[in-house]
Amino acid sequence: MCGIFGYIGPKPVKKILIDGLEKLEYRGYDSAGIAFMNQKKAEVIKNAGKVQLLKEKLDSVEIVSTIGIAHTRWATHGQPNSINAHPHKVGNITLVHNGILENVSEKRIWCEQKGITFQSETDSEVIAALIYLAKGNTMLEKIETALQDIKGSYALAILCDGEEKIYVTRKDSPLLIGIGEKECYLSSDLSAIPKDIVEYLFLEEKDIVILEKDHFKVYQNGKEKLKQPEKIKREEKNIEEMTYEHKMLKEIEEEPEVITRILNHYLKKQLPNLEKYSEIHIVGCGSAYYAGEIGKYLLETYAHKKVLCEIASEYRYKNILYEKDTLVILVSQSGETADTIAAMRKAKESGIQTLSIVNVLNSTIARESDQVLYTLAGEEIAVATTKVYVAQVLLFSLLTYQMLKEEKEKIREEYSKLSFYIKKTLERDQEFKEFAKILYTKKQVFFIGRQIDYALAREGSLKLKEISYLFSEAYPAGELKHGTISLIEKDFPVLTIVTDSSIFEKTLSNIEEVKARGANVLTITNQKTGNLLEIVLPKIHPFLQFFLVIPCLQKIAYDTAKLRNCPIDQPKNLAKSVTVE
Ligand code: M6R
Repeated sequence: MCGIFGYIGPKPVKKILIDGLEKLEYRGYDSAGIAFMNQKKAEVIKNAGKVQLLKEKLDSVEIVSTIGIAHTRWATHGQPNSINAHPHKVGNITLVHNGILENVSEKRIWCEQKGITFQSETDSEVIAALIYLAKGNTMLEKIETALQDIKGSYALAILCDGEEKIYVTRKDSPLLIGIGEKECYLSSDLSAIPKDIVEYLFLEEKDIVILEKDHFKVYQNGKEKLKQPEKIKREEKNIEEMTYEHKMLKEIEEEPEVITRILNHYLKKQLPNLEKYSEIHIVGCGSAYYAGEIGKYLLETYAHKKVLCEIASEYRYKNILYEKDTLVILVSQSGETADTIAAMRKAKESGIQTLSIVNVLNSTIARESDQVLYTLAGEEIAVATTKVYVAQVLLFSLLTYQMLKEEKEKIREEYSKLSFYIKKTLERDQEFKEFAKILYTKKQVFFIGRQIDYALAREGSLKLKEISYLFSEAYPAGELKHGTISLIEKDFPVLTIVTDSSIFEKTLSNIEEVKARGANVLTITNQKTGNLLEIVLPKIHPFLQFFLVIPCLQKIAYDTAKLRNCPIDQPKNLAKSVTVE
């Protein structure tokens, strides 16, 4: 949600801010803006729409300033228009904000009573007003006073007219600082900071950092605290971006390589031993939750563990009666998802062990969980996750594998071919396109399957709806006749996944039930069903069979979205990293 960026140093700020915003655009892209110091006053330029529009607007503006802040927005309070775009300026205070101010109405009224006339509908402008109105001799004191009794989350970068500084603070929202040679960057995430910056400050909750050109100071509760930057080795990119039409496509194509990397790394290692836990809770949001559903199936079926898999936004508010020996596994690509962070903290406060499966290095979840397994998938930019979902389920598969009592050798042998199988599956492009040709004209789709095939169907359905805007729903195949089958009519597309041979016949009966009502059935299977339109995958070891379905579902979603002319990498209303509740 919302990308924040900033720079202070010797270089002119315009290009640096735009480059930063372009890298952060995956976090929100409904409007963008910058503010820079111009003759001791912060000047704001912003507009609705993507960063490209802002870039074009800035082409004709000469900016010599070397201090600036920038923002790309995912709207929470107020329409995505240019007035609500950040930065917001109230009096001498200009700021960009990521997060949500929960007691906004009360604070807005208070500011209005003190004479503020708000320009926008945003909660962020209210924060600017609170700082402007706050009592204090210094900016540090004013910021502390203003933030004292606000409820909600924030990451803020603040300029004050007359000062050559940037004030930075955060609570429940990510923000980090890159320290270079007489220059500092601030950013919502590491990926936007130039790769040659090696030293980073990871802010604790409510730290306030004052950035000046050649030094920084960190404060907590009004007192300066010593904080040493950490050295981070940044990963290099491996595949040329421009050879792919979309980042999502590039990321799908990277899956075989990601699988090899993960297996090479983790098969040699002792993974956390889950044997000792009486109960495992898996928690995540969206695709990370669906990866958890696969994990639950594997751990229950093959390792006989007691597993609960929950959506983080529900889990965090549940009354959970933890068994003493429970392990909570948090799954997150970004490691910054607000609900998953809250779920992790809930477990930790109850004295429960936490293990995270995270992609972004040094993210909040990676840093705060007791143990972390990195998914090693490399940077994922497309909003729809693909290669990281594969990496997450592979880690669940490996955690289960080490507890297997039988067939370990056979499965290890099959692991060594997994990357090849995925590569081969991805080559079946024509078949995916055939499916997409049927789906793209429809208004709705059902995905059905049983057991692990149902868990796959849920992710396949999410992928399709988020990028193609087709209404789609995943159902356990056996559940349709308890109500939902009333929706089936002639030509209603039902995408069926049938790879689990133990319940093959049962799913076939469900296919017959929808066919009898006129459904247009498409199947992904490892055993011919006799259906006209079907992708028949090679049969591999049942423990790994489900992997081959994943790229099929991702490519079908991709091809369908393409036929529907959708903005695949940046679907409307979405953002890659959901840092608000
Ligand atoms: O960064 P996280 O893995 O915690 O994000 C969780 C979900 O927001 C994410 O998986 C979302 O569902 C994706 N857009 C799905 O493609």
